[in-house]
Amino acid sequence: MSSLPGKAPAVKLPPQVESGRELLVEELGRLLTIEETLAKLVLPKLLLEVEDQDLKQVVQAHLGETRAHVGNLKEAFLALGEMPAGRPAYGLDGLRTEHEASAPRVALGVRGLVHCAAAMGTEHYELNAYESAIRLADALGAGDVGGLLRANLEQEISALEKLGTQADRLAQAAVDERTAA
Ligand SMILES: [Fe+2]
Ligand SMILES: [Fe+2]
Repeated sequence: MSSLPGKAPAVKLPPQVESGRELLVEELGRLLTIEETLAKLVLPKLLLEVEDQDLKQVVQAHLGETRAHVGNLKEAFLALGEMPAGRPAYGLDGLRTEHEASAPRVALGVRGLVHCAAAMGTEHYELNAYESAIRLADALGAGDVGGLLRANLEQEISALEKLGTQADRLAQAAVDERTAA
């Protein structure tokens, strides 16, 4: 029983995910939510906020890729004989909250770097989710699912590299701005 006054005793629920295959479906669902949220909300909003034209171009190109990632994930569900369905992606919620709280506190002259770092943060988050799902797909011998996930992963890696180049430039510009001020 809970020791906290007024708190109901914790109810022990049986596990909802009992096998590696079910865990892969969960992971695909989390990835679907991540990609759909990035494609519909996060990247379009970021494009409105970013003023630096070179960074904008990289984000715009990756928005197109992200829309295709959603399609690949739906195909991966179907390859497993499952209907595509999203699962919560709490990490992305946290990354969004952090960015929305921190970016407005930074002067416009250096804010581009904050936007770029936030975009890189979502790529790292995606990389981790894809790597985990690919391991499960490989272990299950689901080669078609693994192939679809790897296609997405390669574009995440490439996007992260391009954003890294932008971050180097924007960091230098932020330092120069400070020196010039
Ligand atoms: Fe993606
Ligand atoms: Fe991405």
